[in-house]
Amino acid sequence: MKNNHIVEGFSKLTKNEKLRLLSGSFRNPAQIEFMLRSFWHVDPDRQKLFDEFSENTISNFYFPFGIAPNFVINGKMYMVPMVIEESSVIAAASSSAKFWSEKGGFHSEVLSTVKIGQVHFIWKGDFEQLRTSFPEIKKLLLERTHPLTANMVKRGGGILDIELVDHTKELENYYQLKATFDTRDSMGANFINSCLEEFADILREYIAESYLFEEQDLQIIMSILSNYTPDCLVHSYVECDISECKDFDEAIAADDFVYKFEKAVQIAQVDIHRATTHNKGIFNGIDAVALATGNDFRAIEACGHAYASRDGQYKSLSEISLKDGKFRYSLTVPLSMGTVGGLTSLHPLARLSLELLGNPEAPELMKIASCVGLANNFGALKSLTTKGIQKGHMKMHLLNILNVFDSDEEEKKKAIHYFKHEKVSYSSVSKLLTELRLQGKPQL
Ligand code: MEV
Repeated sequence: MKNNHIVEGFSKLTKNEKLRLLSGSFRNPAQIEFMLRSFWHVDPDRQKLFDEFSENTISNFYFPFGIAPNFVINGKMYMVPMVIEESSVIAAASSSAKFWSEKGGFHSEVLSTVKIGQVHFIWKGDFEQLRTSFPEIKKLLLERTHPLTANMVKRGGGILDIELVDHTKELENYYQLKATFDTRDSMGANFINSCLEEFADILREYIAESYLFEEQDLQIIMSILSNYTPDCLVHSYVECDISECKDFDEAIAADDFVYKFEKAVQIAQVDIHRATTHNKGIFNGIDAVALATGNDFRAIEACGHAYASRDGQYKSLSEISLKDGKFRYSLTVPLSMGTVGGLTSLHPLARLSLELLGNPEAPELMKIASCVGLANNFGALKSLTTKGIQKGHMKMHLLNILNVFDSDEEEKKKAIHYFKHEKVSYSSVSKLLTELRLQGKPQL
């Protein structure tokens, strides 16, 4: 890369101009441009659709779209679409799904689907007076947002409640309108934000027009949904006899496995370093389903991690119970997901993913995603507490390492055969390839 000066008006350039400008900052512009164009969709209409998802699009960034079969959830079988670049995630989900499919499958229940939005404001007037006027203000907020909410209400959702919240203990003069919403099958971000901005305007107008208050008493700071949705919650679990927890590793008996597994979960309850990695393993699965179905994985992750700290200590989202000879492993996680609106219907593969799942309503998708998260977490702990993860992980990663070394098909075949019984590492692959390439060279 060369050039590090400020670029003015980049967004106003045409796509070709952007591409040229960007490629021009490399030492080999023609190759860079060719490479970026090589990832364009062959159908220009399709490409235009992708271009318009975002701003300043110059190419597409591919991720693998894979399937984890054999997920039995509440008695129904699913082939779950997952989008993820990490080589062992789909394998781990699939293997856990298969294991649990023979033991009653996953059980899942949506506990609630309430979403939250806030108008944050500074109030310097008489708060008791504002509190007294709030029932009247609330009535206005609900009535005057009717044009925005009518459709959602028809679908059975809408605004559930609006509260006036005093936060002056935490921050001087800081108050909120805190509203709860039911957005049915949509994730609902646009709906919630539109309602909130309308609330802010209505409140501003009310204060300006009321003889009880001064216009300058109120300063709206911002209106935005909260990605913390602890009441949009799903609980999933798997259960079997402790004696069935075997065959993961020849060297370990069911009781020993269960003991180590329990300790691993308990460690993630008390140690933040382990808890973060433990929960990351859960989001390997959840994010992959969120991406495949066009959902906002950043919102889901942010919420999940905040929820994991709800008691003041960040800890594991999954829990274990060993009672009456039963191994029960569960996950309770907030998941704000949608099956209509946004990318869910615009992205052709997100649409296909939802079709593959039988066009679920949002609560069903929440159940599926949480079960995949639980499956990945179970798979990770199962490996960690038995043979370790590197063996399986590096086996799955072998093709990536071979690709880094530009291996051809013949070399790949030989390497896969060789590493059936050898430990995969970057240096061991490099060594093998050097040997293979030396053997292949004509002798002088
Ligand atoms: C790797 O992506 C995820 C794990 O580290 C999760 C865990 O340690 O539980 C294997």
